[in-house]
Amino acid sequence: MASLGHDVVGIDVDEDKIAALNAGRPPFFEPGLGDLLIRGRERGGLEFTSDVSRVSEAEVHFVCVGTPQKPGEFAADVTYVDAAFESLVPHLTSSSVVVGKSTVPVGTAQRLAVVLAESGAAVMWNPEFLREGHAVDDTLHPNRLVYGVGTGADGQRAADVLDAVYETILADGTPRMITDYATAELVKTAANSFLATKISFINAMAELCEASGADVTLLADAIGMDDRIGRKFLNAGLGFGGGCLPKDIRAFMARAGELGADQAVAFLKEIDAINMRRRVRMVDIAREALDGSFIGKRITILGAAFKPDSDDVRDSPALAVARLIATQGGVVTVTDPEAIENASRMFPELRFVADTAEALTGADAVLLLTEWNEYRNLDPQETASVVAGKVLVDGRNVLDPVVWRDAGWTYRALGRP
Ligand code: UGA
Repeated sequence: MASLGHDVVGIDVDEDKIAALNAGRPPFFEPGLGDLLIRGRERGGLEFTSDVSRVSEAEVHFVCVGTPQKPGEFAADVTYVDAAFESLVPHLTSSSVVVGKSTVPVGTAQRLAVVLAESGAAVMWNPEFLREGHAVDDTLHPNRLVYGVGTGADGQRAADVLDAVYETILADGTPRMITDYATAELVKTAANSFLATKISFINAMAELCEASGADVTLLADAIGMDDRIGRKFLNAGLGFGGGCLPKDIRAFMARAGELGADQAVAFLKEIDAINMRRRVRMVDIAREALDGSFIGKRITILGAAFKPDSDDVRDSPALAVARLIATQGGVVTVTDPEAIENASRMFPELRFVADTAEALTGADAVLLLTEWNEYRNLDPQETASVVAGKVLVDGRNVLDPVVWRDAGWTYRALGRP
């Protein structure tokens, strides 16, 4: 927002994050974000504070807090969104616009519009489609903008204000759709459910490939050439994790149940199950490659983040596999270019080593579980010179089996012979 020329005040309850941001340090790893932050701070139109009363200086309020899965339930926890809206109330006027960005169960925007009704502020829901690792580009060059607005003049006023906020982005020809609240909320959940379905579809095909001796990477290339299907998000492997796809499909199932429409998304349970089976299958393949037992074997895991170019370890498939192997007696070492700090805080029982060569030294098996470029570019000869056993399991289907086998490695992968 600051890079688009707006004056921005960012508010958070976490004082450490506020201090880091004011010093020009993003509190998480995201390519390109640090530069934008420093430029915004130098320009003077970007500051961070924990003082909520500062919102009274602003005309537009974006609510971007998290909606994690509730402990012990499928539903999303919307208490942070509710608290953020409530904290705004005393500072709003009839010219304020409050824009929800958080991913919420359908019906939330309407409920919160009632909470703000007395203040006269307009409420809009403007779902967020950015991907971690591509967040800056996805934000500045989105493929669409969706405005979920309330009925009447307030809806139009909110849309006009947001058009002014996104003027530069709209001038690039970005499509923008105006919908009711419920549709905007569902666009977000439906999009993530579709993406999860695409990934689990190809992973289900990987199971069939394993049973029949076929190769899922060739299968994906071939079906992806039909542009009705498309090749994107058909990368078979260890499946999806992170703070969005897994919890969003579960929250969707929970919300559909409340609405009496649970049958409509019952298939998402299968999508979730296929995804979880890949983690177990990965462990089985690794154990097979080590002659049936992890006991006393040293296993090096390349990658801890749920995806490359991120330090986010929430529901990381790589760390799930690491823990499963550790519980089966394997001596596990995990390495990652950015996520070690977060990973070791979450799973202090695992061994973490930052340097790749050091992490590989003495390994009986190497598992590539997050496809950082550094790991895609590993040299089979060089890697062979430090490990104890030349066993490699490619959990993301990114290495060339021919090259690795020619160098004397046992190469195994999900969905490939
Ligand atoms: C996802 C959506 O892609 C964004 O559009 C959305 O805005 C975001 O959630 C959100 O709800 O905030 P993100 O979680 O950053 O973005 O990551 P993705 O790129 O969707 O990847 C999710 C997982 O799927 C990763 O673990 C990745 O390794 C896995 N994946 C992705 C596959 O296993 N195969 C693929 O072909 C693609």
